[in-house]
Amino acid sequence: MNELEQEIHTLSEQLAAYQKAYYVDNRPLVSDLEYDRLFDRLVALEAKHPHLKRVDSPTQRVGSDLDSTLGEVEHTIPVLSLDKAYSDGELLAWIEKTEAKIGEDVGIVIEEKIDGISIVLYYEDGLLVRAVTRGNGMVGNDVTANVKTIASIPLRLPTEANLAVRGEIYLPKANFATLNASLEVPFANPRNLAAGTIRRIKSSEVAKVPLQIFVYEGFSKDVVQSDHLQILSTLASYGFRLNPNLGYFAKDGVQARQALEAAGLSGFGGSFSDLASYIQEHTLKRSSLDYEIDGLVAKVNSVSAREMLGYTGHHPRWALAYKFESPQAQTVLQSIDVQVGRTGRVTPVARVTPVQVAGSTISNIT
Ligand code: IVH
Repeated sequence: MNELEQEIHTLSEQLAAYQKAYYVDNRPLVSDLEYDRLFDRLVALEAKHPHLKRVDSPTQRVGSDLDSTLGEVEHTIPVLSLDKAYSDGELLAWIEKTEAKIGEDVGIVIEEKIDGISIVLYYEDGLLVRAVTRGNGMVGNDVTANVKTIASIPLRLPTEANLAVRGEIYLPKANFATLNASLEVPFANPRNLAAGTIRRIKSSEVAKVPLQIFVYEGFSKDVVQSDHLQILSTLASYGFRLNPNLGYFAKDGVQARQALEAAGLSGFGGSFSDLASYIQEHTLKRSSLDYEIDGLVAKVNSVSAREMLGYTGHHPRWALAYKFESPQAQTVLQSIDVQVGRTGRVTPVARVTPVQVAGSTISNIT
């Protein structure tokens, strides 16, 4: 390396570390002034010697004025959705059913269900090569240049692994309020503004919006992990931003707390009997969070148990979304019939004009 290459290298490494400290760890290592000075120096050097600009240069955070195409790309992992439940009873029943299926006790990780934009980050040999929206689960839009402006997303990992990481891009509520107030045509919610932003043609426009990310799944043939807590902890060690509001539940609450601690993760550990109150507290906590969530996600911790449970075409059988609000629809009551069961129990049945609710047609209601 000559002197110039060395300087570009050192600046890139330094700035990447400063970005991680500031945007992921919330612990700035240098003053804004010093950061800007180094950043501007690197921008100038790269402008003068474009061939020396690294593919993972931290200057990409400011985006580019050039139009990007948002072409369609095929996912190399199945990007599935989640099955849903609307009560803690349903969730507990699902846990019991899951234990029966695999014939052993399970540990369940509970994460917040972030109401943002689902994204898959593809790393090859440790480099972020593609960021793709969920799309239809098989094909999504290539939004790499835009995603690279999100400073809490590592452009290079401290390992040369090939990795696919799933996460949710969102706009913090506070930023949404200020930004939206300045728009001629305001957006209805932070999710819509984030979705519009991530599809912008110029990444320099995206860079102006303080988008954030929480990552929640990692897939890799190179890095073998035995459970989800370990996957999360590895993702954190690679520099990804995790949601600290995590719960881990098992038959034995003490063991659950130990497992969280062993993985170096913050969060609530408890037994399954704590689950209902955890959900209730979280439902109340929802409005005080700086981002929108529309539920919680329960996930089987053990990777081998996940493999045994497998997938349907739509969702993994090892995860379940608990939604805060059940889907609603309005219709017209036609008549009320009375059904008499075998035991003589009487059940009134409302016959209504058929109406679509969350994908199913409802015409009878008990
Ligand atoms: S796990 C195979 N965890 O919810 C893994 N999804 O309704 C499936 N989402 O498409 C996803 N927060 O975009 C998972 N903590 C979380 C999540 C989460 C938000 C989104 C995700 C998914 C959608 C399903």
